Amino acid sequence: MKIYSAPLQGYTEAVWRNLHSSVFGGVDTYYTPFLRYERNEIRSKDIRDVERKNNTVSSLVPQIIASSPEEMQPLLQLIGAEGYNRVDINMGCSFILQAKRKRGAGILSYPDMVSALMQEVSKNKDIKFSVKMRLGWESKDEWRELMPILNDAPLCSVTMHPRLGVEQYKKSVDVDAFAEFYNECKHPVIYNGDILTLSNIKQIKERFPDLEGVMLGRGLLANPALAVEYKEEREFTNQEKATLIRAMHDKMYEELSPRLLGNTQFLSKMKPYWEYLLPDMLKKEKKAILKSSTIEKYMMNVNIALSNY
Ligand SMILES: Cc1cc2nc3c(=O)[nH]c(=O)nc-3n(C[C@H](O)[C@H](O)[C@H](O)COP(=O)(O)O)c2cc1C
Repeated sequence: MKIYSAPLQGYTEAVWRNLHSSVFGGVDTYYTPFLRYERNEIRSKDIRDVERKNNTVSSLVPQIIASSPEEMQPLLQLIGAEGYNRVDINMGCSFILQAKRKRGAGILSYPDMVSALMQEVSKNKDIKFSVKMRLGWESKDEWRELMPILNDAPLCSVTMHPRLGVEQYKKSVDVDAFAEFYNECKHPVIYNGDILTLSNIKQIKERFPDLEGVMLGRGLLANPALAVEYKEEREFTNQEKATLIRAMHDKMYEELSPRLLGNTQFLSKMKPYWEYLLPDMLKKEKKAILKSSTIEKYMMNVNIALSNY
């Protein structure tokens, strides 16, 4: 069973992916956060994130979000021009700005629109497509109407995050609903959602032995060793994790601080990682990191927290 790194806007960008892969490893394939075509353009930041020269991981799948074949076209052109032969289509994003444009999980209530995207997928012989989705936007049965459309399309995998769009990340994942989807989907299925520990991975694998893989999101941000723990069949000690996090953090500092031109931007880029990282570290130490007002204080607080972990 493979381990996939989930796309997370603002977190799993090229710098994080490259360093995660070289420092921790254990991930078979990384997915980029979604690229979108809006106001007749693709943001230059998103283009940089998929450019080959900025990516060193051995397997990377660019993800796109679109509500129509017309919106897909420019994104596929860019990805094709960069030499990728894989694309993931986002039908799971619950950000309201995307969903109200019938993109991401917002498209799940519109089988005709999903069908139009799948027709485009069938036409495009140069690229292999996958889909990442939720059960539905507001009903956990919406996927049933989409199943024949998805089953007929030449997809190489479908990742299911068994929640509804309207739930965002509230309520627990519906693993029984996932089980029904898993039985009906004829493509290789990847499970995604709330996997935080090695034993969570093992439980999912035990219940769904034919899974193509599991996709780790916030669990991998919290414990970047989670994928390699699965590969090595052992949990890492706190000390091992702290040493590797320090190595990754130092390299992120080297790569991001000159590029982001200044301390404020660096701090606003780095602090959100600590919202997820090592949830069991001492509260007051995490708080100190998040409250740091200068780069010197931030680095000192990170140092203290990692030394004590
Ligand atoms: C901050 C944030 C950004 C996300 N960005 C994306 C994205 O770009 N594309 C996508 O398909 N899902 C995105 N997701 C959803 C995750 O990929 C994943 O499906 C979700 O977090 C559930 O998995 P987890 O419990 O392992 O985190 C995002 C989630 C969060 C919290």
